[in-house]
Amino acid sequence: MAVEYSVDLCNELKQTFKSKALYRPMRVDRYDPGTELSYEMQCVESGKNAQVTLQIEKFVGGGYAGQVYRVKVTGIDAPDGSARGIETGSTYAMKILIPPSTFSRLFRNTLYWIGFQGPFQLQTNPAAARSGAIWQKFIRRAAKIRFGSEMVVNDVHATFVDNKLGSCGEISDWIEGRTWHLEVDDNLDTLKLWKKGKAFDEKILDSAEYRAKYRFMHNFVDMLHDMGAHEFARQYEWSTCKSQPNCLKRTDCDDDPEAGLVAVDFRAGLALLPFLPMSPGDFKLIGKGIARKSLVQFDRGNMEELENFINACPADFEDLKPMLDELKKCEDIYRDSVPDITHNGTRLLYSGKLWNRIFDSAVTGWKVRNIIDERTEVSLRNSKSNTFLFFALALFSGMGLLYTIAGVIFGLMRLTGLVEAIDSPWLSLRSVYWWPMIIGGVIFFNGFRMIRKAWGRQNWRKHY
Ligand SMILES: Nc1ncnc2c1ncn2[C@@H]1O[C@H](COP(=O)(O)OP(=O)(O)O)[C@@H](O)[C@H]1O
Ligand SMILES: [Mg+2]
Repeated sequence: MAVEYSVDLCNELKQTFKSKALYRPMRVDRYDPGTELSYEMQCVESGKNAQVTLQIEKFVGGGYAGQVYRVKVTGIDAPDGSARGIETGSTYAMKILIPPSTFSRLFRNTLYWIGFQGPFQLQTNPAAARSGAIWQKFIRRAAKIRFGSEMVVNDVHATFVDNKLGSCGEISDWIEGRTWHLEVDDNLDTLKLWKKGKAFDEKILDSAEYRAKYRFMHNFVDMLHDMGAHEFARQYEWSTCKSQPNCLKRTDCDDDPEAGLVAVDFRAGLALLPFLPMSPGDFKLIGKGIARKSLVQFDRGNMEELENFINACPADFEDLKPMLDELKKCEDIYRDSVPDITHNGTRLLYSGKLWNRIFDSAVTGWKVRNIIDERTEVSLRNSKSNTFLFFALALFSGMGLLYTIAGVIFGLMRLTGLVEAIDSPWLSLRSVYWWPMIIGGVIFFNGFRMIRKAWGRQNWRKHY
């Protein structure tokens, strides 16, 4: 019999864990329905803070960027106007920028490290989370001009830090919608003609929903490029074959195939590396990125182009003007928080400001991820050499892991006779002792990890 996932059992285990009064913190990967949470949220519009309590209703899903929940807000404690758009009793979508699956997390973080030489910023840097949310506000307004309604872009209300999962997050409107109606189309040749803009017979043109979505997403991408949000456009680029779920169709518009399309996901998960296209459309995107001098793509926008777009119709953006200055500040912090060789280039050689920011944001990231407590945070902020050492410990631990993996590979090669097969005077693999590699690697990996944990947090010190 298949064993079903039981929330009750999880709660029971949670209670047991609590009752033991352990020093080590409980590890949480995701939340179950019914969980009550409370966050200090920063309102996207006002920039003010509000304490918001909410209850998880449903785990909706999540890929590489993070995990999405449907939540109900059960209480707000805030001075007037500091939690604009959020109301007690209403339902929202909550996205926390850490994937529930370990594999997804490792894969995402590895690509990001290769691309930007730092941790995944949307997870670890509150300025990056806020920057993305403010961009979305501007995109929403642009959509009002282009599509006649702001409803085509989901509204995001606040950003926050989740200390349990160790990640930034955001709360936005919940869209009652669906992704795709699999339409049966007997006239694919006509559809092809339609796509190419050639003459076709109107009477045998099917796939109404498909065509509406295809057109909407293409127009939306054009708009994003026009306003300088070049890399956000990746999220809606049809040809990547994975962007379609980012655009939902509202259920209350079910009877009209054209109506109710809404863009919900502006947080990229995977960095696009120039040597690692992962979909047919990526080849084109890489080329276009290089033309914009962006070799590694993630979610970079062009502030100058955004300002030009705004200045072309200032009346439409009047009330958002104060947010533009805030966006510039957040972008400055965000983009300077990682070495990002391909964008920062030679600045890395001479800019003290850049390196100060990288060190500072590294500490912020460890705090967000709950690797360090307040005391360690203060001490690391006061000493660059300690910050570097703390980073180096992670590096050594990672090297231990690689050593273990190498040992396992050699071991497998030995067992399968592969070593004997490729052994030669030029490449003497017989002399590799795989099991000491594994044992040594494990000791290194865990040893440095333990030192780092004990240094980072008092409760881990006590635990050890
Ligand atoms: N605001 C929302 N309202 C309703 N459903 C949503 C909302 N945001 C996301 N979803 C659902 O969750 C799925 C995954 O969310 P998304 O933000 O695209 O994350 P990811 O791309 O990391 O998987 C979406 O395809 C959509 O079905
Ligand atoms: Mg998505």
